[in-house]
Amino acid sequence: MKITKAILTGGGRATRLRPITTTINKHLISLANKPMIFHAIDKVVEVGVKEIFINTNPGDTQLQKVVGDGSRWGVSIKYFEQEGGPQGIAHVVNCAKEFIGGDPFMFYLSDNIILGSLVPFFEDFERKNCDCMLAFSKVDDPTRFGVPVFDSRNKLVEVIEKPSEPSSNFAVTGIYLYGPKIFFEAFDHIQKSARGEYEISDVHSYFLKKGKLVGWKEITGWWKDTGKPEDLIHANTLLLSEMKKEEFNMLGSGKAKVKGNVHVGEGTKIGSGVKIIGPAIIGNHCSLRQCSIGPNVTIGSGSSIHLANISNSIIFSNCSIESKIKISDSIIGDQAKVIKNKNKKVVRLIIGDQTLIEL
Ligand code: G1P
Repeated sequence: MKITKAILTGGGRATRLRPITTTINKHLISLANKPMIFHAIDKVVEVGVKEIFINTNPGDTQLQKVVGDGSRWGVSIKYFEQEGGPQGIAHVVNCAKEFIGGDPFMFYLSDNIILGSLVPFFEDFERKNCDCMLAFSKVDDPTRFGVPVFDSRNKLVEVIEKPSEPSSNFAVTGIYLYGPKIFFEAFDHIQKSARGEYEISDVHSYFLKKGKLVGWKEITGWWKDTGKPEDLIHANTLLLSEMKKEEFNMLGSGKAKVKGNVHVGEGTKIGSGVKIIGPAIIGNHCSLRQCSIGPNVTIGSGSSIHLANISNSIIFSNCSIESKIKISDSIIGDQAKVIKNKNKKVVRLIIGDQTLIEL
C-alpha cells in the first residue's frame, strides 16, 4: 500500500506569532533561509509522495506564489480552501476528500518541523499493513497536544486532545498516515469539540474504538510544533545544525573572520571588521560592516548590518540594523529598522501591533 498523495496545511491565523504573521503566512516564515513549508515538502517528497494538496486561507495567494505548482520538487502541488472557514484540522482533511478518492494518504501539519527521515515511519505502515499510523514524540508539557492513552499491556486505546491530566508524556505529532477510505468514514461519525473544532484525535479514537489497526512510532529525531516565537528560533538553530557542509558557500565579496559553517549569498558585500560564527546564513545582496554575526543566525536578502552583534536570531529581508547593540533570541521582520538615535538620551519607537521589545 504505497502512499503517493499528501495533504499539507498552509492556512490558519497563527495569532501567537504576531506581529510577524500580520503580513506573512506563517508557513512562509523563513527557517534556515527557506520558507517553513519547504522543509515539510522536502520531507514528504523524500518518502516518494508525488501529489500534494495544500490547504490555504480563503483568498490567500501568497502561498501559491511562493510554493508554485511543485515543479521545483518534481511533483504536482494543488491548492484547496477550507469550506466555511476554520473548523479544525480533521475538517481540513475532509475538504480534500475528492482529491484523495480511495487512495491511502499522508496528512502533514506544515508547522511541524522534524529532523531526520520519515522513511522508517512509512516502512512500518506498509509492512504492518496498518489502517493508520501515528508519530509520537516525548514532550515536557503534553497538555498542549493530542496525547495517547495506553492500557495495562501498553496497547494504544485512545487519543485525548489537550488533556488537563495527560496519562503519558508523549505528544501526537502532526504527521499521520491513513489507509484507503477509512478517514472519511470516521469523519462522518465525529462531532465538533468544546473549542468548536473537528479534532483529528477524535478520528483516531474512533478508529481504536472500532478495532482498526492504529500503529505508532516514536520520532527519535527532534520534533517541534512551531507555535510560538521561541519555537521558531529553536527550529532555525536545529535546521542550521542539520545542514550539510556543502550547502554553505561563500559567494559574496569581501573578507570576514569566519568560524564554522557560514553561507554568504551572491552580491553580499562584506566590509571591514566583520566576524561571522557558524552556523549562519547571510542572504543575497546584504551589506555587513563592523559587526559580529552568529552563531545560529539567518539573515534574509537585502539586509544591512552595521555595528551590531547578533546571535541566535532570525532576521528577515531588507532589514537595517545599524546601531551598536547586542541582539539575541530575536526575530526581526521584513524591512524593520533598528538604527542609532542621534539624541542619545531617548529611544524612538514606531512599533506595530503586538510587538515585543525587551530592553
Ligand atoms: C494539532 C492536533 C494535536 C497535535 C498537534 C501537533 O493541535 O490537534 O493533536 O498534537 O496539532 O502539532 P493544534 O496545533 O491544532 O492545537
